[in-house]
Amino acid sequence: MPPEKIEIFKSMEDWAKKNVLVHLKPVENCWQPQDFLPDAASDGFEEQVRELRERAREIPDDYFVALVGSMITEEALPTYQVMLNNLDGLRDETGSSLTPWAIWTRAWTAEENRHGDLLNKYLYLSGRVDMKRIEKTIQYLIGTGMDPRAENSPYLLFIYTSFQERATSISHGNTGRLAKAHGDTKLAQICGIIASDEKRHEAAYTKIMEKLFEIDPDGAVLALADMMRKRITMPAHLMYDGCDVNIFFHYSAVVQRLGIYTAKDYSDVLEFLVGRWKVEKMTGLSAEGRRAQDYVCRLIPKLRRLEERAGERAEEALTIPFSWISDRLVKL
Ligand SMILES: [Fe+2]
Ligand SMILES: [Fe+2]
Repeated sequence: MPPEKIEIFKSMEDWAKKNVLVHLKPVENCWQPQDFLPDAASDGFEEQVRELRERAREIPDDYFVALVGSMITEEALPTYQVMLNNLDGLRDETGSSLTPWAIWTRAWTAEENRHGDLLNKYLYLSGRVDMKRIEKTIQYLIGTGMDPRAENSPYLLFIYTSFQERATSISHGNTGRLAKAHGDTKLAQICGIIASDEKRHEAAYTKIMEKLFEIDPDGAVLALADMMRKRITMPAHLMYDGCDVNIFFHYSAVVQRLGIYTAKDYSDVLEFLVGRWKVEKMTGLSAEGRRAQDYVCRLIPKLRRLEERAGERAEEALTIPFSWISDRLVKL
């Protein structure tokens, strides 16, 4: 990133202290995975586990594929912290740096760390999944990393994280609603509490971008158009379970069919962000900036049309085995 852009983030430090760090929750006020899990130190542990497993028995396999996929995505957290620490002008230079950007990145990671932890323990106790093959998928995924194509630019990555936090909040929210529909209100609560964290993170990242749209409208709108041209890929897009080379594609198909995260959600997130940052109303842009603005605004109706056509095309779905649930068959 050019030095003058790095300077922008330096000049935003006081603002970030007051406006971004407020979206973190003090540890003492945070929920912990243990709040939602049977307590292994209590006498009622076995009984609580038995109840958890009885509830889980009523939930179909395809739901577990979706839940496992989102747990694996959360468990690849080391990759996401690396992404944030690669950002020019923002990286945590010492590992315990006191710039607001570094404080945010570490505390965000610490908050996110509870998500994978909680889902992992729940899935283990449920007895419905093949933990070893899930753990293998996590190891492969962290070893492979990700490529959001943000090129170390905070502009690009904050577009990406704004999009992703909202997308994960939607998908955890829908996963919770489905759990409730299957009669598991405790699991619904687990998904809901995670979704509410993602929402808070979305508020922080969209606020940073809002500020960039104000300070550097051309830079911000060019970044938005750039990321949308590349398409926002899910963070776990490089996942592999050791046997299915298309596991990510297959998992995404299940998630789409169950209505947990769909093509419509993708367009909805974009439409929301464009509204949130008032992209349509931006004035005083350079010619290049206007082209980017135009591209992003036209993209929304274009994506809507694609969605409709995809809906019409819906073919007879394949049924394939998923290693995560001991090779039981699930419709895509
Ligand atoms: Fe998360
Ligand atoms: Fe998140």
